Amino acid sequence: MNGANKFRLGVLGSGKGSNFVAIAEAITKGLVPAEIAVVISDVEAAGILEAARERNLNARFLAPGKFRTKLDEEAERTYVRELQAARVDLLVLAGFMRVLKGEFLRAFEGRIVNIHPSLLPAFPGLEAWKQALDHGVKVTGCTVHFVDAGVDSGPIIGQQPVPVRDDDTAESLHQRIQAAEHELYPRCVAAIAQGKVSVRGRTVVWRT
Ligand code: GAR
Repeated sequence: MNGANKFRLGVLGSGKGSNFVAIAEAITKGLVPAEIAVVISDVEAAGILEAARERNLNARFLAPGKFRTKLDEEAERTYVRELQAARVDLLVLAGFMRVLKGEFLRAFEGRIVNIHPSLLPAFPGLEAWKQALDHGVKVTGCTVHFVDAGVDSGPIIGQQPVPVRDDDTAESLHQRIQAAEHELYPRCVAAIAQGKVSVRGRTVVWRT
C-alpha cells in the first residue's frame, strides 16, 4: 500500500504519551498498517507532543478554551477542522483528559477509540488504578473501547487483565497496567486498520 492510501490515525493526548509511543513503534515494526497523520494536545508542554516531534510527525498544541473537563465550542471546531484537514480515518485517544461532546462525536462517529486503565465497566473516570486498589479487587487491567457520548462507556474492543498484588502501591499497579496498555492498544488499532473489527449493538466482533 503506498503512502497516499494508508489508514490515517489522528492521536489526541494530554500527558506523557507512552501509548502514542507504543503505537508509533508498532507502526515502525510493521505491526500496525497505518500512519500517524497528526498528533494534537490540549497541553502545550505535554510529553506526547515532544515524542511526536522527535519522530518528525505533525504535532500541534490546540488551546482547549475556557472549560476544565471539555473543549469549548470554538476549540471543538478547531480540533475537528485540523483532524479533517489531516484526513484522519481513526481518532485515537491516548490519555486525552477531556470528554468529547456532540459536534466532535458527530464528525467522527464510530471512528474514535480510547484506552482506559481498568476493566470497564469497573472504575470509569479518573485514576482508575487507585479506584481498583481502594476497592480491593484482585484483578484489574485496561480496556480499549469505541467512544460514545458517555464517560468510558462505549462498545469494548479489547481488554487485558492485570493481577493486583498484595503489596501493590498506586504507582506499581499503574506501571503494570500501562505495560498492558502498550500491548493492547497497538493490537486493537491494527485490527481496526485491517478492517477486522465490526460493531453489533454493544458487541464488537473480531474477524480473524
Ligand atoms: C493511560 O494510562 C490511559 O489509560 C489514561 O491516561 C494514561 C495516558 O498515559 N487514560 C484515562 O485515564 C482516560 N480515562 P500516556 O500519556 O503515557 O499514554
